[in-house]
Amino acid sequence: MTAFPVRRPRRLRRTPALRRLVAEHDLTPRRLVLPVFVKEGIAEAQPIASMPGVSQHPVEDLPGIVDRAAAAGIGGIMLFGVPEHRDANGSAAVDPDGILNRAIAVAATAAAGRLTVQADLCLDEFTDHGHCGVLAGDGSVDNDRTLEVYAQMALAQASAGADILGLSGMMDGQVAAVRAALDAAGRSDVVVLAYAAKYASAFYGPFRDAVESTLQGDRRTYQLDPTNGREGVQEALVDIDEGADIVMVKPAGPYLDVLAEVAAVSTVPVWAYQVSGEYAMIEHAADAGVIDRERAIGESLLGIRRAGAEAILTYWALEVAEWLRDGRPLA
Ligand code: PBG
Repeated sequence: MTAFPVRRPRRLRRTPALRRLVAEHDLTPRRLVLPVFVKEGIAEAQPIASMPGVSQHPVEDLPGIVDRAAAAGIGGIMLFGVPEHRDANGSAAVDPDGILNRAIAVAATAAAGRLTVQADLCLDEFTDHGHCGVLAGDGSVDNDRTLEVYAQMALAQASAGADILGLSGMMDGQVAAVRAALDAAGRSDVVVLAYAAKYASAFYGPFRDAVESTLQGDRRTYQLDPTNGREGVQEALVDIDEGADIVMVKPAGPYLDVLAEVAAVSTVPVWAYQVSGEYAMIEHAADAGVIDRERAIGESLLGIRRAGAEAILTYWALEVAEWLRDGRPLA
């Protein structure tokens, strides 16, 4: 007599209704954050060739983007600025009239509390050498002098109306320095999102086109080495200790193990950034006809959720939120 299986996991997969009922994870629009590139001195949106479907925007586009984002119910937008002029110290980053600070002000007014306005707090878009900090005489990135600039940048972004500051520069002590500066200025209300475990990654390639990066060389002296998992957890714990309100792992897809480990130990919310290269891979593969675009997008986001991200920065935030609103399944 044949020994039939007693355990039959397929039973719960038989119909769409059963599968829907037992789904462990899902995504909701409130968990999505849209990164937006705002460029100084342009009159119309300019498509970014390496990121099909993503553009650099004039600041005037922001109210419309914010309205669409609010209607889609997403959690926020993360602003990046592309300035016309760059210098050694990234001075446009601390100037209230600098492109990013102007963009924050316009977005905050348009948002009127309907979603959060977040700003990238890093110098790489503003320095002529393209590094995330200011340089010492020997050409290395000067950690502690950079902290002083980050503190000023934080105050400028807070004054412009940002709800959340995204500290992406990977300088030691950046969370503590920014928190102290905000608190001393009476801005203990402003949220610090620490890009706690940010890896030195090839997957930032298309982003560097998007912000017209001038970087020569790489960021390996400050971003994490892809060989290290435990160090990513340590970075998150250090940032929590320094006062981070939220910690993030970035990129997401290639670092799901780090994300899961951080999610297991964090006492604060854990987010992930699905970066430009992760976006571009799926878009270009879909374009070549080798992958089902929408299912691949859905799967990539569900993987990040399964690993433990409570919110996800993704260039598909608006599109996916609109699918969810229309009741379409993700995968
Ligand atoms: C630094 C920053 C980068 C990204 C977000 N913030 C670039 C870098 O570290 O080189 C990358 C995001 C992406 O690739 O989508 N300002």
